[in-house]
Amino acid sequence: MPELPLFEIRPYRASDLDEVIELFVRSVREIASMDYTQPQIKAWAKVDRAEWEQARMSRPTWVAIKDGQIAGFIDLQSNGLIDMLFVHPEFQRQGVATALLARVEAEAGEADMPVLHTYSSLTAQTFFEISGFTLLLARSVVVRGERFVQCVMEKRL
Ligand SMILES: CC(C)(COP(=O)(O)OP(=O)(O)OC[C@H]1O[C@@H](n2cnc3c(N)ncnc32)[C@H](O)[C@@H]1OP(=O)(O)O)[C@@H](O)C(=O)NCCC(=O)NCCS
Repeated sequence: MPELPLFEIRPYRASDLDEVIELFVRSVREIASMDYTQPQIKAWAKVDRAEWEQARMSRPTWVAIKDGQIAGFIDLQSNGLIDMLFVHPEFQRQGVATALLARVEAEAGEADMPVLHTYSSLTAQTFFEISGFTLLLARSVVVRGERFVQCVMEKRL
């Protein structure tokens, strides 16, 4: 019998908003917090629900579903930028991000996008490197008063 895929990847729906926000906050507080200071995590995890609602509807986003729950999400802007890739703390290292990125790469291929890029966190840098992205530069940005190192990375498709 053929094996069922581990996760269903489907387009984001407006009704996913609160679950996606909760996943984001938990992923930052419980996973990214290993690489950042408490003040950085506090600034990063601040959410304006209306802004999120608008941002999610303004660009394609996909969610990974396991047992009826959102295990992770990813987005893709028309210029090839992956702005968001977050996996639920309870679903780390189970291939969720790999499956989400594969979906984005397939969509980018369909849209004749030659290159994907991202401003990776320190936490996600190894994942992106293993997934074929190259580090172009590490730069410093200020978000809500806190300074962060951002890894500018790209993958030619
Ligand atoms: C980075 C992140 C998206 C990876 O998601 P994931 O679903 O756990 O990743 P996968 O299971 O698909 O990992 C694939 C491979 O990437 C590498 N990898 C993933 N996370 C890693 C980590 N923390 N350290 C080292 N290698 C890692 C491993 O080689 C892994 O394969 P393996 O588990 O068989 O060794 C997830 O840890 C996350 O949500 N982090 C916090 C949020 C964040 O920083 N997001 C990025 C914002 S730009």
